[in-house]
Amino acid sequence: MRTQVAIIGAGPAGLTLAQLLHLEGIESVILENRSREYVEARVRAGVLEQGVVDLFTEAGVGERMAREGLVHDGIELQFAGERHRIDMAALTGGKAITVYGQTEVVKDLIEARLATGRPLLFEVDDVRAEELESERPRVLFTHEGAQHVLDCDMIAGCDGFHGVCRPTIPASVLRTFSREYPFGWLGILAAVAPSNDELVYAHHERGFALLSLRSPEISRLYVQCRPDEDIAEWPDARIWEELQIRLGLPGWTLAEGHVLEKGITPMRSFVTEPMRHGRLFLAGDAAHIVPPTGAKGLNLAIHDVRLLAEALTEWYGAGSERLLDSYSTDCLRRVWRAEHFSWWMTTMLHRPEGDDPFEVRLQESQLRYVTSSRAAATTLAENYVGLDTV
Ligand code: APR
Ligand code: PHB
Repeated sequence: MRTQVAIIGAGPAGLTLAQLLHLEGIESVILENRSREYVEARVRAGVLEQGVVDLFTEAGVGERMAREGLVHDGIELQFAGERHRIDMAALTGGKAITVYGQTEVVKDLIEARLATGRPLLFEVDDVRAEELESERPRVLFTHEGAQHVLDCDMIAGCDGFHGVCRPTIPASVLRTFSREYPFGWLGILAAVAPSNDELVYAHHERGFALLSLRSPEISRLYVQCRPDEDIAEWPDARIWEELQIRLGLPGWTLAEGHVLEKGITPMRSFVTEPMRHGRLFLAGDAAHIVPPTGAKGLNLAIHDVRLLAEALTEWYGAGSERLLDSYSTDCLRRVWRAEHFSWWMTTMLHRPEGDDPFEVRLQESQLRYVTSSRAAATTLAENYVGLDTV
């Protein structure tokens, strides 16, 4: 087989890159090791920055997002028994976020891909990227029991944190930076109308909680838990009880409903440098992970592939390597900004290890400052809705 760009991974990064390249007339083959059903059923986050919404719209994959996505101008921070609204639109010249599940984004992108008639192979195995430092890289894989060699010009490593692409970069070249947090998130999807019109980030002595939304009928909620907690220790009743306590306010009740899905995710910050090695370009979770508190994971992945698509278009169009050569540096500027913002939101809002009283006082002071100073609120707002330049 031969193509121009081999894309490994059919998550938001790989699928979006394929669509952007298709619009530029650049060929690609997407190789995904899971089934379509599995990829479309994976429940993840769901907050889109303004810039990402605009990109999906321009790329012709924004129609259902525009119809079903929930546009929010603000978020709420809750602490010491009070809720404070951050009016992000007012603080950022009118920018907003769109709440639209990553699952839905992936479904729309897969539909768009299949409509192009270009290759998207599910359930591939034994994927190996080779000859990265040559002008003829290739990807070996098996599919439906047969071995294949995919010759290409470039390889996009969009295969997530546990993928095969990052480990193909020689250890002598690769630098990784990481931080593990001593807590995780237990997230639920519930068949009940959201009890608030906007997201609520709650700081509570029993731990963090987040009220988010998926649709007028479906809520998405999270509670801070231990990273190694066993989900079996969290029957639905206990989850609702904890959410009621952490999100509860006098005169306000959280509506409960049937729990459709629940899971625990550990929290880490992780960055790989460089994001390029020869003809291999890493994008999304394959190169970096942020804790979900800043809602940056999906948005960062899309920003990476926007830059990669621009760089590949300039290379195929004008033969220039300028943007390919600056790809890693350009991405990492935004990655570290998002890493800082996500770490900051995480350390401000989560119950610290050992309930360190000094840290709790610092958190309370930070929360009072962010909800009383226009300058501090603007910092949060502009990072949350997405910075144009970094
Ligand atoms: N071969 C082929 N595909 C693979 C392989 C492999 N060896 N390993 C992993 N994959 C696939 C996974 O099954 C997944 O579908 O690569 C895809 C990677 O997708 P994501 O993990 O969703 O990563 P990305 O596209 O970068 O999107 C980042 O996902 O995890 C969230 O919070 C994160 O929102 C962020 C977004
Ligand atoms: C979600 O809706 O799943 C969500 C929202 C905000 C976050 C993380 C997840 O910070």
